[in-house]
Amino acid sequence: MTTTVILISGRGSNLLALLEARLPGRIAAVISNRAEAGGLIHARSHGVATVVLDHRRYASREAYDAALAEEVDSHRPDLVVLAGFMRILGDPFVQRFSGRLLNIHPSLLPAFPGLNTHAQALAAGVRIHGCTVHFVTPSLDAGPIVAQVAVPVHGDDDEAALAARVLAEEHRIYPQAVRWFLEGRLRLTPAGRVALLHEGPPAPPLTAPVAA
Ligand code: GRF
Repeated sequence: MTTTVILISGRGSNLLALLEARLPGRIAAVISNRAEAGGLIHARSHGVATVVLDHRRYASREAYDAALAEEVDSHRPDLVVLAGFMRILGDPFVQRFSGRLLNIHPSLLPAFPGLNTHAQALAAGVRIHGCTVHFVTPSLDAGPIVAQVAVPVHGDDDEAALAARVLAEEHRIYPQAVRWFLEGRLRLTPAGRVALLHEGPPAPPLTAPVAA
């Protein structure tokens, strides 16, 4: 049986989508760096163990990352899922979990890495925006891309409207990508490429229709 650990910092809507997706294996723990993260309630209501590891209690980023890595490793995870975990993880952490660390980012990478992606997209005037699931590598928001969904940007969109349109697709794409990994269909090759085996029934298309 596969074991997954999920890291969050806040609301936890992606976590909830993962919890409701009836993924293979077990979710051993949800770990948050904030005690007030709403996602902890979702975890508990689904009977998943929660751990709070408050970054403010550690003297340095390195010390926090080391403690977090120990906590994650104590669950012996096959997969570590970042679901709105709002801290940059240092190279030692990323390398320790290399090939089994996934993230979702609310833009069509490599466009708009970092924060405030919806504001960035509106400021740039793009007509298409979206979200990306990727393996995490030491360069921020630049790891090998697993899946993307595009959504249209409407002329009257504000940040909230655009964020909501993207978020709905995040909730579809992330459980799908995590399922691929847990079924052994998705891997990061030693050369750092994404290998995705489409076996069994074909997966639903991951590119949403984009309005003209
Ligand atoms: C999502 O937009 C995710 O892509 C980004 O942070 C947000 C987290 O939202 N990394 P939630 O906590 O999953 O609701």
